This record gives sequence, structure tokens and C-alpha cells, in this order.
Amino acid sequence: MADTRPILFFDSGVGGLSVLEPTARLLPHAPLVYVADSAGFPYGTRSEAEIAARVPALLGRLAERYDPRLIVIACNTASTIALQHVRAALDVPIVGTVPAIKPAAEQSRTRVIGVLGTEATVRQPYVDDLAQRFAGDCTVLRYGSAALVALAEAALGGEAPDLAALRGELDGLFAQPGGDRLDTIVNACTHFPLLEDALAAAAPHPVAFVDGGPGIARRVRHLTEGQAWPDQPLPGRAVFTQRTARTDALAPALARYGLTSIESL
Ligand code: DGL
Repeated sequence: MADTRPILFFDSGVGGLSVLEPTARLLPHAPLVYVADSAGFPYGTRSEAEIAARVPALLGRLAERYDPRLIVIACNTASTIALQHVRAALDVPIVGTVPAIKPAAEQSRTRVIGVLGTEATVRQPYVDDLAQRFAGDCTVLRYGSAALVALAEAALGGEAPDLAALRGELDGLFAQPGGDRLDTIVNACTHFPLLEDALAAAAPHPVAFVDGGPGIARRVRHLTEGQAWPDQPLPGRAVFTQRTARTDALAPALARYGLTSIESL
């Protein structure tokens, strides 16, 4: 029997589309619900307490409404702060998105890697722990940028990012001691892969970018192995916690990800 329960992706904004995309490619018949907490956006400048309270409560409401088979927290800020709270509160498998420090350390030749995330993510003990466990012999530079999050939201809406602004933000990594040897950047915010081409063009020397999207897609496929899917792909749904003219204007961009209806929570 076909099972129409969706996979629910959750982010503060549109960044989680960079996680939804590789998952949709691996599981083309998976019904998708994409939720952007536009009423709470941005998360990266919020306190740990705010995120730890807001995210589990919201996901509880979403789980009731959409009955997902699995939830992907497609947000590094929410995952590094609230993943444990969400798992404790909900009886649904939860996949989090945490900075891809391990693959970055595996591929870096210079042993200098950068973690580019939100201000909230880069200060998390979760990141200290990943750096210690998987990049012990690397210099791990960190920089948190709210400006890049805003530029990524605008880019999805069709606004080309300003290269000078990107350069200024990347300086937050490259201008640190060791930055001249930086060869791998972890996109530790799901918004940043949406800017990846422009970031690569703005970098002062060639660097590789790594993010968690493809690994999460494989994890989701593994966790749903053996489950039934609808025979035909169903239209995906985008949900905003606050619907505005700006979120409605994203309709054509969302449709490119298969999200052809927009609703509010
Ligand atoms: N996309 C989110 C992340 O991965 C956060 C963006 C924000 O709301 O600041 O961290």
C-alpha cells in the first residue's frame, strides 16, 4: 500500500532547500513538505534559550499537522542547539544538520579549514566537539555571518549577490591567522550552498566547499529503506510560519524544487 506520509524539512528560511534538493534527487517519489519559520527568521542572531524553546514547540505542531514519517532539521543553528530537545519531545525519527567538519578535514591538504556558519552556530560546544574529534590536526577557523544569510534569501528571490559584500564576509575567515592556507570551507549554514558559485568567485584563492546535504540525503534514504512511496511524485508543499508578499514572491523559485503550493502554519 502506498504511504503518502511526507518527509518534513525544517529551517528558519529557504536555506534548507540545499538539503531538500539532494534528498529529492535520491527519493523522487517522496512526498515533501518544506517549512520555513519566517516568523522566527533569522535564527543565527538569536540566543540559545530562544531556539531551544521555539524549535521543539514548532516541530511538535508541525508533526501533528503533517504526520511526517521523518523530520529533517535542515538548519545547523537549530540542530546544534535543539536536536536533543526535539528528539526527546517527538516520536518521529529526526535527522539533524551539523557542520560537515569531518569530510572537510578528510579532504583538506593544507590542514586549514574554515567553518562558515551563523553567529549562533560557530559558538556552539557541538562545533568544538566536532573539531576536536574529526579535525584534531587541523587549524579550524570560524566565522559567523548574518549578512550571508540575508544575501542567500535574496539570491533565491532572484537578486544577484554583491561580490564586494561576499568578499567582505569571506574576509572573516581568510583574514584570520592561517587564512592564507585555507583550502576547504564548511558551509555550516544551509543557506550558504545557495551562494556557493558566487562565494567561490569571491574567494581570494581557490577553495573547496563542503556541506552536509548529500550525506543527509543518503541518511534519509537509509532510514526509509523498505518503506512504501506513492506510485507518482506528489506536489511538494512549502509552509511559512508567516506568509508575506516576500514569501509569496518566492513561488517560482520554490516550484523549481517541486514545491508547488504555499501555505501558512
Ligand atoms: N539556515 C540556518 C542554518 O543552517 C540559519 C539561518 C538563520 O536563520 O540565521 O544555520
